[in-house]
Amino acid sequence: MWKTPTQTNMTPNQLFEIASIYTLSKEIQEKVKSAKETRRGLYLYGKVGVGKTHTMHAIKNYFIKTYNRAWFENYTEMIAKIKSESLSNYGFSETLDRLKKYEYPIFIDDITTEKVTDFQEETMYRILNERYNNGYVTYLSSNRDVDVITNVFGSRITSRILGMCDKLEIKGRDMRMKEALDKTK
Ligand SMILES: Nc1ncnc2c1ncn2[C@@H]1O[C@H](COP(=O)(O)OP(=O)(O)OP(=O)(O)O)[C@@H](O)[C@H]1O
Ligand SMILES: [Mg+2]
Repeated sequence: MWKTPTQTNMTPNQLFEIASIYTLSKEIQEKVKSAKETRRGLYLYGKVGVGKTHTMHAIKNYFIKTYNRAWFENYTEMIAKIKSESLSNYGFSETLDRLKKYEYPIFIDDITTEKVTDFQEETMYRILNERYNNGYVTYLSSNRDVDVITNVFGSRITSRILGMCDKLEIKGRDMRMKEALDKTK
């Protein structure tokens, strides 16, 4: 039998579930708490393993506790789901439709990618354009600074991201690497 998890042997998913914004910087806490009024989300970026996904979950958990609503997607999984729905339903994806219309915060984690297909670009454009126009709060994370993603997603998408999100760098060390090194000590 697997043991009941403790803080030290929890899986990343178990840690994500209990992640709290009160462990994050005051700057992030203030931006998150005023998001309903400012209508602004965050574009979180930083190197591999610094805690972007953890931070995204901590913010999501705040909205779940406060408003009982938030929607979290991993970018790659989201694209795969939307593509599969579109292929089996004459181009219509229920997930895409709902993401566009969801008036509570959504989180699209890890939009890091070297290149985008037309389908990916169109999907992101459709989600972000609709959400930007409606003032729906959106959180994004990536390993790349905004200037770099302009080269990948193009200026139409980047312009909307900057129009609806404050960009914020998460600094630090790769925590996975650190954990692995600590274990070998
Ligand atoms: N504040 C934290 N408290 C405890 N564990 C954390 C914290 N932040 C991150 N971690 C752990 O560190 C590891 C890396 O964090 P995370 O997955 O959030 O990084 P990331 O920046 O999203 O990485 P990537 O760029 O590869 O997606 C995970 O195992 C996560 O559970
Ligand atoms: Mg991540």
